[in-house]
Amino acid sequence: MSSVRTPIFAAALVGLSSVSSVPPAAAQTPELSSTLREAASRHGILIGSAVRLEPLLEDPLYLEILSREFDTVTPEVELKWEHVHPSPFRYDFDRADAVIRIALENGLTVHGHTLVWHQQNPDWLTTFPFSRKQLIAILRNHISAVVGRYRGRVALWDVVNEPVQAPETEDDSLGDSVWLRRIGPEYIELAFRYAHEADPDARLIYNHVGFGQALSAPSLAIVEGLLRRGVPIHGVGFQVHVELDGDPPLEKVEEFSELMQQFASLGVEIYITEMDVALREPVTPRKLHDQADTYEAILKSCLEQPACKGFQTWGFTDRYTWITEQRAGWTAPLLFDVSYHPKAAYFALRDRLLVQPVPESR
Ligand code: G3I
Repeated sequence: MSSVRTPIFAAALVGLSSVSSVPPAAAQTPELSSTLREAASRHGILIGSAVRLEPLLEDPLYLEILSREFDTVTPEVELKWEHVHPSPFRYDFDRADAVIRIALENGLTVHGHTLVWHQQNPDWLTTFPFSRKQLIAILRNHISAVVGRYRGRVALWDVVNEPVQAPETEDDSLGDSVWLRRIGPEYIELAFRYAHEADPDARLIYNHVGFGQALSAPSLAIVEGLLRRGVPIHGVGFQVHVELDGDPPLEKVEEFSELMQQFASLGVEIYITEMDVALREPVTPRKLHDQADTYEAILKSCLEQPACKGFQTWGFTDRYTWITEQRAGWTAPLLFDVSYHPKAAYFALRDRLLVQPVPESR
């Protein structure tokens, strides 16, 4: 897929993990010593990764590479209801405070994740039979407390995460959740309005579940409706969790480009919020090459879409990834291996950022 490959990339391709953990000195021209962060700045897009607290605190190389290669971080779990709001009258911000403090101390932009989701909710929220009015008040208080606490420090928020799910039946395009059951579809609009109330300067994002046409129609209709009603929504995020089983899904990338344009034509910003490309075990040089091509194709489609403002992976090292923890038989989804050596995917992204022309419209 890509014509630009540095010699070091060739070494990564054959799975040699002897390359240093620091991007190599320029192979042919000075800019090839660039980091992802430096290369992404050419295009004016955010380049980010999900992060976890323990390695931030305990693993110096984790923070060193993160702050060198990325400009934006998303706490992978620390801002979810179960973690920050463990009981009805108690918030626990310690872990989120720590992640955000370290991020800001290291010059990183923080992308908050997530204010409303159907997963990782505490039992008190999902089991007690709250009335609609009570749950709306709980939602408003939570968003006010969380977004208000980080006002001016969290620049972007995934306000609602995956509101559209694979339909269980023909007519239920909105995924089942305590929010939908108890409040109704209006919970989405309310969440955006409460988030804007708490921090008028934050970029508010609707985080869609996938990146293909499937399930996109309901999200398109929801976003159109929010915009029509003047709801403060700034962007749509696309999770790009790929399980690579065979050739790179380049036809899906074409579909994604069309999908980005459909949302961009509504006037919203586009964010790739959670990309990872899981490989079926065992890892081979061929699979690493196809992984690199997949990452590069998605990034290229973002760079070609003027509304695309961010490219974020869901973690950056295979040492810490939900894939090996929760997806049996799948592995090695990220840009650096478990020893923090850059993989072919890292070089494919960096080289794409360096060679892709920057359109006037950016
Ligand atoms: O912190 C506890 C630990 O104390 C306990 O020993 C351990 C075993 O039970 O669980 C730990 O919590 C886990 C948490 O990740 C932290 O590692 C939860 O069980 C586990 O469910 C949670 O999984 C996260 C998942 O969201 C649910 O929050 C994944 O790490 C995270 O990558 C994943 O991210 C989601 C995005 O939010 C939305 N898009 C899809 C993406 C992947 O599923």
